[in-house]
Amino acid sequence: MKKLSLKDRFHHWRRKMRWNRQYKKGKWDYLNNDREHLRYQQIVDYINKYSLKTPTILDLGAGEAVLNTKFNPEDYTHFYNVDFSKASIQNAKAKNLSKSTSLVADIHTFNPDQTYDVIVFNEAYYYVHDMLRQDVLNRFIKKLNPNGLLIVSIYREGLDCWEVIDANPNLEKTEFNIVKTDREQTYWKVGAYRLK
Ligand SMILES: C[S@@+](CC[C@H](N)C(=O)[O-])C[C@H]1O[C@@H](n2cnc3c(N)ncnc32)[C@H](O)[C@@H]1O
Repeated sequence: MKKLSLKDRFHHWRRKMRWNRQYKKGKWDYLNNDREHLRYQQIVDYINKYSLKTPTILDLGAGEAVLNTKFNPEDYTHFYNVDFSKASIQNAKAKNLSKSTSLVADIHTFNPDQTYDVIVFNEAYYYVHDMLRQDVLNRFIKKLNPNGLLIVSIYREGLDCWEVIDANPNLEKTEFNIVKTDREQTYWKVGAYRLK
């Protein structure tokens, strides 16, 4: 895998510290509001439509596990929330979500032993360093079970992200939607992909 320079690693660490501070201050509490709910709902809909009845789900950059809370525990076998911010994972754990594991790990290096039916990058892929986007995507594609589903949600245009995902020779696009809201400038592009 490509390695970040010392300077980039330093900036990455600083960003992680910033996320921790913001989660401690409650800056991301608004993700629970009705407007944001629309994008989580799109992800839930894709999973209901295209995945197994009770999938194992890995949410990368899961924050405080808001997506996890949008499901009934009967609807999944196990839900894994992964984020590099300790503060967000503490808040996720405090929710005591059933059949769920919340883990502090960095998407740049996280390399789980197991495979999953669904892997989600929900407002997280564009935080992956651009030099590592290809490697990270390929690593997690290998963690999908046969017929597994990759779901990516990106705020507004997501420049330099969709290009990488759409060009991946191992993925085929299953569905792609733009989730619009009452605010013209607030929208998300949400794609569902399968292994070819
Ligand atoms: C905009 S928040 C989205 C949180 C969550 N996916 C949601 O939509 O509710 C982006 C999240 O990505 C996490 N993140 C950013 N870079 C990361 C990395 N390299 N490894 C793990 N998590 C990362 C941040 O800590 C933050 O929780």
